[in-house]
Amino acid sequence: MVTKGAFIVLEGLDGSGKSTQAKILAAKLKRSHAAVYTAEPSHEKIGVFIRNRILYGEIRPPTSVEALLFAADRIEHIQNEVQPLLNEGCLVVSDRYVYSSLAYQGSAGLSLEWIQAVNFYSLKPDLALFVDVAPETVLARLKRKKSVMETLETQRKVREVYLKYVKAGDLKRIDGEKPKKEVATDILSAVMAFLIARC
Ligand code: TYD
Repeated sequence: MVTKGAFIVLEGLDGSGKSTQAKILAAKLKRSHAAVYTAEPSHEKIGVFIRNRILYGEIRPPTSVEALLFAADRIEHIQNEVQPLLNEGCLVVSDRYVYSSLAYQGSAGLSLEWIQAVNFYSLKPDLALFVDVAPETVLARLKRKKSVMETLETQRKVREVYLKYVKAGDLKRIDGEKPKKEVATDILSAVMAFLIARC
């Protein structure tokens, strides 16, 4: 039985299925413990601004400004949503976190060190998983309107940055090319293994 909170992060390319998987994970964890699904950009003021004005290209600020906005949203997300839930002992599943800034804004040319610096006050996740799907697969899957972050070349570069953090041991890779149910099982196994090892 889990008795304290944990901050679990799912990362991946757009169309990798990580949002679906994060929701499935939170629902499965809820069977035995308080668990909450959350996402970045968040539902706080800056997150809503990013979603409404930036993601679909209405305004295109410099990449450094984008990174600062994502970092500012992250602070609000942590302070107003994640930390209070962790204090109550919840398992918090976040659909995207700081690795998205490193991967997307980093692959767009920003220094990874600088992105890390502006995210200095963000909470370190207890477990961060990367749902890995080939860029070709995700673009074929994406039927909805593509955000300004979504082209084959950019997705390849984004994946490279994610893999760098997999190699460094910060992210645990999950094979996202498997059928949806198997991916969900693999994610739950990784989370349960982490929770058991921590006891
Ligand atoms: P996404 O998970 O696709 O949200 P939704 O499915 O609800 O539309 O994320 C939106 C986009 O935001 C995605 O293209 C990646 C981008 N993003 C960044 O570039 N940097 C960040 O720090 C974050 C959190 C997201």
